[in-house]
Amino acid sequence: MTVNVDPVVIMKQEVGKAAASRVKSDSIVGLGTGSTTAYAIEYLGERLRKGELKNIVGIPTSFQAEVLAKKYRIPLTSLDTVDRIDIAIDGADEVDPNKNLIKGGGAAHTREKVVDSLADLFIVVVDSGKLVDKLGSTFLLPVEVIPMAVAPVMRSLEKLGGKPELRMGVKKAGPVVTDQGNLVIDVKFDRIDDPACLEKTINNIPGVLENGLFIGVADIILVGEIKEDRPLV
Ligand code: 5RP
Repeated sequence: MTVNVDPVVIMKQEVGKAAASRVKSDSIVGLGTGSTTAYAIEYLGERLRKGELKNIVGIPTSFQAEVLAKKYRIPLTSLDTVDRIDIAIDGADEVDPNKNLIKGGGAAHTREKVVDSLADLFIVVVDSGKLVDKLGSTFLLPVEVIPMAVAPVMRSLEKLGGKPELRMGVKKAGPVVTDQGNLVIDVKFDRIDDPACLEKTINNIPGVLENGLFIGVADIILVGEIKEDRPLV
């Protein structure tokens, strides 16, 4: 694994490694998206290379995860060929005390929800800054929308009490486009009192593909701590 002295990177490496250590040989592994899961994917590759892990296949949740898995020589398959997933490892943007999540900071929540929901064991890798009492306190709720429906979906989200904004890419040169060719609306809700109900209500708006509320999907939350006082190596 790459050596780095940035405390945030070290935390992400540690928590990613802890999750990847739980993967057993002969398993089908959901590969999440994001900077923390990237280290889990890297460590899975390392374990395969050393021979301590054998015969695993990954199901990527995004193009990013697929590229990383190929880089670390993790064999891949798809949901056309397997009907179950043993373990999935993925990041999150917020986690509440009931292990409910907001995901989609990387615009990959639609595929992530498909893969993570199918896993017998879904491990979430986060830092303690992502733990919240109520979802929506720190992070906007991502909603993937087909492009022609952006305006009506935004109006519907406003009627639900949200403040929607189309997600723009680097330097605001254009909107972020998902792996499915859709757009993402980020919505600020002053409070999300009933996340399970809001998840369903938003998904019922015509034109919405999926939103970033993951209710009752996560099994284990691995929380990394940023230790600023580590000795430099
Ligand atoms: C992508 C996600 C990510 O898992 C989430 O944004 C966390 O990413 P990171 O580990 O980089 O903070 O939901 O859609």
